[in-house]
Amino acid sequence: MRPMPTAVEAAPTSPKGLEGVVANQSAICYVFGEEGRLIYRGYDIHDLADHSTFEETAYLLLRGDLPTRDQLKEFSLAIKASQKLPKVVQRIIKDAPLTASPMNVLRTAVSASVFVDPDKGDDSPTAEYRKAVRLIAQLPTMVALFHRLRSAQRPLAPRRGLNLAGNFLYMTSGALPDPEAAKALDVALILHADHELNASTFAARVIAATLADIHGAVTGAMAALAGPLHGGANTEVMKMLLEIETPDRAEAWVRAALAQKKKIMGFGHRVYRTEDPRAAHLRRMSEELGRKAGQPQWHGMQQIIEDVVRREKGLYCNVDFYSASMYYVLGIPLDLYTPIFAISRMSGWCAHVLEQHADNRLIRPRADYIGPMNRTWVPTGRRA
Ligand code: COA
Repeated sequence: MRPMPTAVEAAPTSPKGLEGVVANQSAICYVFGEEGRLIYRGYDIHDLADHSTFEETAYLLLRGDLPTRDQLKEFSLAIKASQKLPKVVQRIIKDAPLTASPMNVLRTAVSASVFVDPDKGDDSPTAEYRKAVRLIAQLPTMVALFHRLRSAQRPLAPRRGLNLAGNFLYMTSGALPDPEAAKALDVALILHADHELNASTFAARVIAATLADIHGAVTGAMAALAGPLHGGANTEVMKMLLEIETPDRAEAWVRAALAQKKKIMGFGHRVYRTEDPRAAHLRRMSEELGRKAGQPQWHGMQQIIEDVVRREKGLYCNVDFYSASMYYVLGIPLDLYTPIFAISRMSGWCAHVLEQHADNRLIRPRADYIGPMNRTWVPTGRRA
């Protein structure tokens, strides 16, 4: 008689969610979780947020060093020259249902853009760099095109005098952006550009490590980013604030949610054990822009929520908390918050794909098997 099926008895050795696992080496970005510090290529995020631009930061991530004046000019011109979407990508976006999630449309458009990429099939580092520049340049145009179509507004071509952040605001809203708004979005893009081995970047590296192309890798990354535990959290934060409505209801609302063991979106982090350094910039911009827009209540509500969650759960807010109210007072629709995250993070994903391809080995971990063993196959009619 055959033995009854039994589970493997070995104790699992894998930390759930790969917590604390160092999966690869990288020279791009590092999160100091205990200190609440973040660096891109050795530069502190505060210095970049205070003094840099998104274009400069994207160059830094891709090339390893801050650009000289000429290099920045060349990079910015390359971005501007690539902003227009190929016809096939425009058609795919136009064919999407108007009710589709912008992240799904964006992911599909990015995937399709490989059809006509001039460097398709060439995986040399220089060709991959050119593809990365095109991907970074085209995301804002993709998001704006879909948004204009679904709001029955005429799509707008990028304007030459604007940087990537300004162009995104212009192409979605149709109005030339207020300089303070454009600057705030530019800083937000710097802050979101990379974050070491977060879920979407890890996904991109796993895909890239099979020697799949950069378009495939970043398409997978975008699917990962959309989840509410990752980049989708910013939209959920704003939905929560709209549900709470007024600051005087905030404390009771959060206490009730915590009592029901609900997660408060925009709080917690796998790596940070103190405040996420990006949150300080977003908190300040959310307050300043909220006051200027005559909508200080969102920031006011958030301060109360932050205080309660900190006291009750010992949790700090993350990048998605104050970015939500900042985007809201800039008039950006809720479902474009995560696409903005993608617009920025595209630079980090591409840098990681280039780094992976430059020194590649297939990423293929093992699983702790906890299923049954030694089962006997029986014909269909004799199965219980
Ligand atoms: N609100 C309330 N409790 C939270 C929480 C939150 N936002 N985030 C974590 N916790 C609690 C969990 O309930 C859990 O408590 P328990 O041990 O009593 O069950 C504990 O903290 C650990 O949480 P866990 O989900 O296991 O941590 P993680 O490292 O796997 O997850 C996040 C990290 C970011 C996914 C998690 O904090 C989260 O879901 N946050 C909300 C979504 C979000 O803002 N995502 C954007 C991240 S930048």
